[in-house]
Amino acid sequence: MSKIQRIGVLTSGGDAPGMNAAIRAVVRAGIASGCEVYGIRHGYKGMIYGWMKEMTSKDVRNIIQRGGTILKTARCEEFKTQEGRKMAYEQLSANKIDALVVIGGDGSFTGAGIFSKEYDIPCVGIPGTIDNDIYGTDFTIGFDTALNTVVEAIDRIKDTASSHDRMFFVEVMGRGAGFLALHSGIATGAEAILIPEENGQEEKLRKHMQSGVNKRKASSIILVAEGNNVGGAQEIATKMAAEFPDYSIRVNVLGHIQRGGSPSAFDRFLASRLGTAAVEALMDDQRSIMVGWQNHDVVLVPFNKTLKGTRNINQKLLDVADILTI
Ligand code: ADP
Ligand code: F6P
Repeated sequence: MSKIQRIGVLTSGGDAPGMNAAIRAVVRAGIASGCEVYGIRHGYKGMIYGWMKEMTSKDVRNIIQRGGTILKTARCEEFKTQEGRKMAYEQLSANKIDALVVIGGDGSFTGAGIFSKEYDIPCVGIPGTIDNDIYGTDFTIGFDTALNTVVEAIDRIKDTASSHDRMFFVEVMGRGAGFLALHSGIATGAEAILIPEENGQEEKLRKHMQSGVNKRKASSIILVAEGNNVGGAQEIATKMAAEFPDYSIRVNVLGHIQRGGSPSAFDRFLASRLGTAAVEALMDDQRSIMVGWQNHDVVLVPFNKTLKGTRNINQKLLDVADILTI
């Protein structure tokens, strides 16, 4: 029997569709394991200020299909300080919370890892971010939904692009990672994809535009990952418009639309699996680990491994994108 009696659950960093499904899974799996589960609001900020209360099975009814996070989320600078984490520990102690489940990205896991070491509290992380940039898991909760949102938006843009014979530069999120751009680029048949993980992209784009002029290509989509090395979609488009006046160019920055919306079936499934796995891991006395998804199954990855590793882009996907745009 595990010693854990009360689990705290929070969402932290950027929200992602499927976080609610993960909260639901943690609450219900925790109760099924004989624990009480406390929801901590506004991420680490709520831990510092004691914004936490018990959640029942009923509290998580009818949320599996909702985007965002009912617990709310935050980026909290105070938690990066020793004083902030001490206040957080005092609040957890006062509320008799003896284990934590953190749903978020690698920043959130960094905080959880430090906190767990300082105060000897078992912490388990669930990867939740639309960026899919966490080492040790094939997918993060929210990526699939965001990807489908981007694909739907680009399909719409393509209708107007082809009607006017225009070139669109579409900027997608992903922070320093190009997964959203690369996967959506392949899924929509984009003519070029600019991602942070590849060098020499400006020249490649120029060649592509030159060949498009030569081939008199009617319309095209240039996918721009926000973290790429050339610049933002507007900046690149302005530069290219000056160099290639034959093109009629428009820009579309998709922005936070990518973060909202009802989670896809896959994200709900993943969140349900990882949420229950997180509680199982705590019951098995695991600590400072992330529950991840590899080869269609749950894996436990130590925080130090997931935080040190870099999730690389699959070179094969870059080749596929190149081959399919000729
Ligand atoms: P994500 O979890 O999506 O990567 P952030 O990088 O914004 O998002 O991190 C979320 C929160 O995790 C931060 O606002 C902060 O509270 C906490 N955090 C991040 N890095 C650290 C750190 N080095 N020490 C303590 N807490 C951290
Ligand atoms: O990490 C998720 C993400 O949406 C990134 O893709 C993006 O760079 C960032 O968060 C935006 O953060 P904010 O919502 O704070 O503007």
